[in-house]
Amino acid sequence: ARLKGVAPSILASDFGKLRSQVEEVVAAGASVVHIDVMDGHFVPPITMGPIVVDALKGVDAILDVHLMIERPERQLADFAKAGADVLTVHAEATPQLHYALGLARELGALAGLALCPGTPPDPLVETAELLDLALAMTVNPGWGGQKFITTSPAKIERMAALLPADVPIEVDGGVDLDTIGVCAAAGATVFVAGSAVFGKPDPGEAVRALTAKAQE
Ligand code: DX5
Ligand code: ZN
Repeated sequence: ARLKGVAPSILASDFGKLRSQVEEVVAAGASVVHIDVMDGHFVPPITMGPIVVDALKGVDAILDVHLMIERPERQLADFAKAGADVLTVHAEATPQLHYALGLARELGALAGLALCPGTPPDPLVETAELLDLALAMTVNPGWGGQKFITTSPAKIERMAALLPADVPIEVDGGVDLDTIGVCAAAGATVFVAGSAVFGKPDPGEAVRALTAKAQE
């Protein structure tokens, strides 16, 4: 599986049939599955922890864990053990960002750095040699189903200008058929989509439609 293309966010899935929903989008071509972890501190809601990552073990996709939690360095080992392939931490969530990213790699995962819409891209420069992924939040983190922030493409371009060419940029929040194209044009290559996939009657078809739009 490759770190590329549409990454369905299970936050919008039906947890009563989590595994079959995930298998459906993977069969439709998704090679990345996005898992939104929220702790009730960094963002108000509480969502899921390592046991949900573990529940997806063996799925033929990259398990992309987005940690919207304070001091993520304290939890990385548990998520790595549960089977996370990508561990993405927020620049705003720890004073020990360089350490956290290095630890993610030491644990055998790919290291991702996420930036909220209001955060300047500078942390990318200081941690560039430790990055396997940069995540541009295109909404303020915390909830699925929010509206895409229209100034995001310019931010993606600024991030791309600072990053080594081989570090993919992922976008997350409000990504749908109307917004995925501008994200791709700005330089994003990984597209998280929650409501635009699992909120649709046919999630597999939604993955195929988004994939086609991103390639236009
Ligand atoms: C928001 C999460 C997103 C969310 C996206 O805090 O990080 O991954 O699931 O949901 P949609 O695609 O519905 O905006
Ligand atoms: Zn996310």
